[in-house]
Amino acid sequence: MFERDRQHLFLSQTTNNNNIGSRKLLLHNLKQIIFGRVSGRWMYRLAKYLFFFILFGYLFWIWIQRPQVIIDENFGESDLANTNSDITKIETLCSPITSTCYSVVDIINRETSTVQRAMYINGFEKEYDTVVQLIPPKGMTYETSDTRIWAINNTAITTQYVAAMITQLFTTSALPLKSAGDNERELLCIGLGGGNFDMFLHTKRPNIKITIVELEPVVVQLAKRWFGVVDDDRRKTIVKDGLTAISESKINGDKYDAVILDACDNTKEMPCPAKTFLTSSTLTEIKSILKPMGTLIVNILPLKKQKANLEKVMKILLSHFPVCIKMQMSYEANVVVSCLPYSLASDNLEDTKQLILQRAEKASNDLGIHGVLEYLDLTIVLK
Ligand SMILES: *[C@@H]1O[C@H](CO)[C@@H](O)[C@H](O)[C@H]1NC(C)=O
Repeated sequence: MFERDRQHLFLSQTTNNNNIGSRKLLLHNLKQIIFGRVSGRWMYRLAKYLFFFILFGYLFWIWIQRPQVIIDENFGESDLANTNSDITKIETLCSPITSTCYSVVDIINRETSTVQRAMYINGFEKEYDTVVQLIPPKGMTYETSDTRIWAINNTAITTQYVAAMITQLFTTSALPLKSAGDNERELLCIGLGGGNFDMFLHTKRPNIKITIVELEPVVVQLAKRWFGVVDDDRRKTIVKDGLTAISESKINGDKYDAVILDACDNTKEMPCPAKTFLTSSTLTEIKSILKPMGTLIVNILPLKKQKANLEKVMKILLSHFPVCIKMQMSYEANVVVSCLPYSLASDNLEDTKQLILQRAEKASNDLGIHGVLEYLDLTIVLK
């Protein structure tokens, strides 16, 4: 207390001197203060403080220089979405077969006051398998209601690549824009995820027969529990290896209007499509289970060396199919490719492209996904 008083006194003295307006006087007084009035005891104290100050500074410097080991408790969650989002973990299940773990999270977007639910593979926190829109109970918001009980909006598509996969069904006439004759239509989807693609289609076009094969029983469990995935007589989820399903279809002579390959493995460079499907024998089999005007739609997700990896997949696909239509997403790393078992005349390719673009426009408008579907370019690639 005494100490502080004295400092205060010094300060007021210098201020007073300043008020006099003479710099010389101020300097003189300062000298007096420092050298005149400061006793030996004071000098000792000053030295003591200086010593501790330097010691503390030194220790602080050593502390800063220590090896930086930062344990990030929130690994994988901090990057999930922008800062205007809150992420709540709902459930994680691990596959007893592959020991891959899948997590379900709810993402609250405070900016738009909407809630989305997503599934991701642990280790791929930045690449959601599925994102669906939740419907709040009447008069409720995320602040007044537990989002876990909210319903799923099956007619909403939130990711560009799912919108692209749906649109690709129509661009090449694998499916007609009109629903007449849907009873005759049949799709085989390999890879369920949260079922956004097939549940959307099933809701919009309930008469199309859709079979979904999913390798991981835990994914089916999570999809049924948290993503509103339901089976009925026109839409069925089967726990099975996609490779087996393709072979069985061939043996049974089943023919599909489209085979949708949305299966991923856990390679970091390019998780989708799962490499096991890119063998010559499997692609030959897939081609053989397509109807004459059918299409194979592939979700490609190149995360590293994107150009090279994409080209690699395209080359393999084009060695079995004469034509592929490629759509590069604008915000997502995904590239959606639709490959046809028949060839297109190469002399009027530009006309064909315009026709495909028109159909893409019409289909995405009719289905209400035009706002989501945003791609950089649509390219027709010939063998
Ligand atoms: C579901 O999503 C669609 C498309 O975004 C939207 O038009 C519709 O209003 C949503 N339904 C509900 C109940 O929120």
